Formats: sequence, C-alpha cells, structure tokens
Amino acid sequence: MRRYLISGNWKMNTTRATAVELAKALVEGARAACDKVDVLIFPPAPYLIPVQDAVAGSAIQVGGQNAYFEAPGAFTGEVALEMLQDVGCQSVLIGHSERRHVLGETDSLINNKVKAALEKGLQVVLCVGELLSEREANQTEEVLDRQMAGGLADVTAEQMADVVIAYEPVWAIGTGRTASPEQAEAAHAHLRNWLTSHYNASVADATRILYGGSVKAANAAELLGQPNVDGALVGGASLKASDFLPIVEAGVSAAG
Ligand code: 13P
Repeated sequence: MRRYLISGNWKMNTTRATAVELAKALVEGARAACDKVDVLIFPPAPYLIPVQDAVAGSAIQVGGQNAYFEAPGAFTGEVALEMLQDVGCQSVLIGHSERRHVLGETDSLINNKVKAALEKGLQVVLCVGELLSEREANQTEEVLDRQMAGGLADVTAEQMADVVIAYEPVWAIGTGRTASPEQAEAAHAHLRNWLTSHYNASVADATRILYGGSVKAANAAELLGQPNVDGALVGGASLKASDFLPIVEAGVSAAG
C-alpha cells in the first residue's frame, strides 16, 4: 500500500519571515494528518535552516529544490547534497520543469544528480512532464519514456525504494489549467507500466507517482482519487497554509 505524499514546492517565493510563518502554520494544521499521509515541503535554499527549526519535532519533512551532484568544491552558486543533509534534509527535488526549460537542465545532468543523491541516501523526487506542443503532437508518452530512461539510467531496483516520481505536465504548471483526472491517470498508469517493464512489478507497485500542475483544494480530491495518483506536488497553492492544508486533508480522505 503506497502512502500518499503531499508536497509543496515553494519555488523562488517567500521571505525568511513568511517562510517560517508558513512552516509553523503547517505544523499546527497538519499535525493529525501526518499520521495518515507524508507532508514534504521544499523551501528556497536560504530558508532551509529557519524552516527546519520551525518544523522541528513535527512529522513535516523538508527537502531541497535542487542540488549539484559533485562533492563540495569549486562550484560557485551551487548547493551540495551534503549541505542539504547537513541542514536536515532527507529529500531533494530533481529535474523540475523550470530547471529543465528555464535553466537548461538535460536528462544527463538530471541523471547525475539522481544517482549522486541516491548514493548519499537522500529520497529523490524526480519530475517528468511534457510541453503543450508535445502533448498536442501526441508525444506525451514518448517524452515521459525519454525522461524516465534518461533520469533513471543506472538506478537499480533497490535504489528505487528512495525514488518518487512527480508527473507535472508543463502546460498545467502555474497556468490554472489542470490535467483532467483522466489525463493524469493515463499518464500515471503509463509511468507505472514503464516501471514494470524497466524494473519489475514490485518496484512499480511500491513507487509513488505524484501529480503536479495547478493542484488546488477544489481539484485535489478528484486527482488523488485516481488509482495511480499517490500524492501531489503543489506550487502556487502551497504558499498559503489555508490553500495547502485542504489539499493535505484531501490526501487524508483519499487514504481512507
Ligand atoms: P503550480 O501548482 O503553481 O501549478 O506548480 C506546480 C509545480 O510546478 C510544483 O512543482
């Protein structure tokens, strides 16, 4: 039985003060929910420490939005995986579409990050998803296959225990245009079949596949009710506790 994971990607938002305030509100508001679902937030790197302090003693998990794959050294502007672990992070988001399409990350760079993070024992949330033009050209499955094969190259079945996949159709991110539950389920089922054929049935069955792209309280229950949707990666609606907590509650309801 896969445990729902409701995660919030704060992207390049919040100030130190609003990040701490938001984290504290989540600690209060999600206390009971954390018995039933996993809650994971990704604050901006400079606020990881104050946010970790704010959630200390609670079940809310904190992860990095990105990291570089090399050991600490001369890589100006980058954050090492060791540094994330040093400040208490157990998870890292890798391959977000904004990193792929705005910052130019390739599948090969993403794969280096995935492998390095897994070797360090971090949980990886690997994002995949097609552009609107790719969906319109009926290339969604081909793009997902390429991103999965590229991102997970040389990742073993054992290591997959620490991998979460996030399906985020790029056309649904920050646009208010959510994938329909049927579109999300079709993509998730495709990703799970990919896991069966490239690993095995037990890896496919155990791996959580999150949906991301304009998730909000109003559509969360329906999306989380799909058989292959195991959680959400929420952007805009993770920036206010009053928007995010109802999504966490939708996860609790879906968990039954
Ligand atoms: P929105 O929820 O703002 O569409 O963002 C989704 C996302 O990119 C989460 O990583």
